[in-house]
Amino acid sequence: MFQSTVSRRQFLMSSLGLLALAGLPQLASAMQGMSKLSPNKASANFKPDVELELWCKYNSVAILKGQATQLMQYSALLLKGPENTITEIAGSYLGPIIRLYKGQKVRIHLHNALSEPTVTHWHGLHVRAEMDGHPQYAINSGEVLVYEFEVVNRASFNIYHPHPHNATASQVYHGLAGGIIINDDEEKALELPAGEYELPIVIQDRLFDKNNQLIYARNMHQRMTGFYGDRILVNGHADFSCEVASRAYRLRVLNGSNARIYKLAWDDGTPITVIGVDGGLLEQPETKPYVMLAPGERLDVWADFSGRAVGSELTLRSLAFSGVLPRMGMMMGGGSLPVGSDYPIFTAKVTRQVSDSPKLPTQLSKLPRHSLDDTANPSKPLPISISEAPMAMLLNGRAYEFNTPQASERVKLNSIQLIEIAHDHQSGGMGGMNHGGGMGMGRMSGMRGGMGGMGMMNMMMAHPIHLHGQAFSILSRSIAKEQEADYATVREGFINSGLKDTVLVMPNETVRIIKPFQDFKGLFMFHCHNLEHEDMGMMREYLVE
Ligand code: C2O
Ligand code: CU
Ligand code: CU
Repeated sequence: MFQSTVSRRQFLMSSLGLLALAGLPQLASAMQGMSKLSPNKASANFKPDVELELWCKYNSVAILKGQATQLMQYSALLLKGPENTITEIAGSYLGPIIRLYKGQKVRIHLHNALSEPTVTHWHGLHVRAEMDGHPQYAINSGEVLVYEFEVVNRASFNIYHPHPHNATASQVYHGLAGGIIINDDEEKALELPAGEYELPIVIQDRLFDKNNQLIYARNMHQRMTGFYGDRILVNGHADFSCEVASRAYRLRVLNGSNARIYKLAWDDGTPITVIGVDGGLLEQPETKPYVMLAPGERLDVWADFSGRAVGSELTLRSLAFSGVLPRMGMMMGGGSLPVGSDYPIFTAKVTRQVSDSPKLPTQLSKLPRHSLDDTANPSKPLPISISEAPMAMLLNGRAYEFNTPQASERVKLNSIQLIEIAHDHQSGGMGGMNHGGGMGMGRMSGMRGGMGGMGMMNMMMAHPIHLHGQAFSILSRSIAKEQEADYATVREGFINSGLKDTVLVMPNETVRIIKPFQDFKGLFMFHCHNLEHEDMGMMREYLVE
């Protein structure tokens, strides 16, 4: 069904051309000292319960009517372990869902059949630094990298995706991503909807040319705001709909977009019932009028179609909101599908009447949350400061550099840290915008006249900040006065009670989190999960020692 319409050689050439077009001046210094390691091999004394091959390769897949789209794709081959470990998503370019059980020992052989380096990260999993998919372990075309880890996470929905230096965004955009579902005993006892009643909902946006080929970021502006498509894909399908029975379903929702932020709501006003987030189940279900979902974030949704008539439909939409992009970006971010406009995501069509349905449990879990008293630094939070400048998005005042931890980026093993994520108004970045819109942004300056009383371009935007390693708890969020009007359009959509690995930080917002750094020493990245920002260097590392 998905046979290539072009020869592999033709495709290799065209895709290389595409990537070259998107190429940025490389941050040459960033990888200094990151010498090429010989790929890790299987170790004799590791006895896996699950073993699989994971391939990164080129393929072409029919997404829109007409010509198939050339892509990069993960595919998997199960060598050992339960049969349900790997589930393909029918007709999708997404990698198969990998299903693991807490306590399993897993060995994965990553094969790079691309013509460029890659490495895979298990977003959300708590594994040794050497197994985390750090860019320093990237393998060249034709090489194989072996990962070995034990699943210590609780039940949760996680992601596998590439993490090579400066190329994460383009590889994800071109198709490399998949879901990892972890199950455990605590979750099993709840008997939540499973099998055909548990649906992955992976939301992405893409931009196609008239030949159905992907268009990727062509200019600095698209890098600054993040890259947006004008077609919403769910599980790799355009105009996605699914047929459901009149009973409860469990939707495993993932925002797999490079940059687009969604405000998810049912179109008939039914509140969204959330049972889990990034790090697994909440203690109790929460109902929300809408839920904000930023790149890298996940949602576990209880969707109950009981009592709905055969033939009825329910659509998940992204509702209108404001304030996540710089003012100039509001004019262009998202092209013909602006970020913060109102549009459909997918439709569930009730096609079968059934008489019984599982009941929503009132108590889901007991969360291993930490409190301020558990932290090593209750009155001295480690800062993650966000600065935004025309050519650089920075964390803690710096672009990414391999293994150059600053004092606030060194953490004691087995400590629990209070971290404060905030926008840095002191940095040179904002100042740069006051002095004539230089640094390649000159052509934007003509717009200033149209900016009303702003006086300067406001570069502040929302950033989904992701921290590798263990999940964290959100302690507090606070918003500056001048941002309150915009914030009112998103405020009800944050779920602050669960365990998270990615948190959306709005402009002028300060978020305090509590994060454990247990079990493993080494370098653990933290970065913006707006993938264009990540590749621009909006990433740093914690050295756990
Ligand atoms: Cu989902 Cu460091 O990444
Ligand atoms: Cu991650
Ligand atoms: Cu960002």
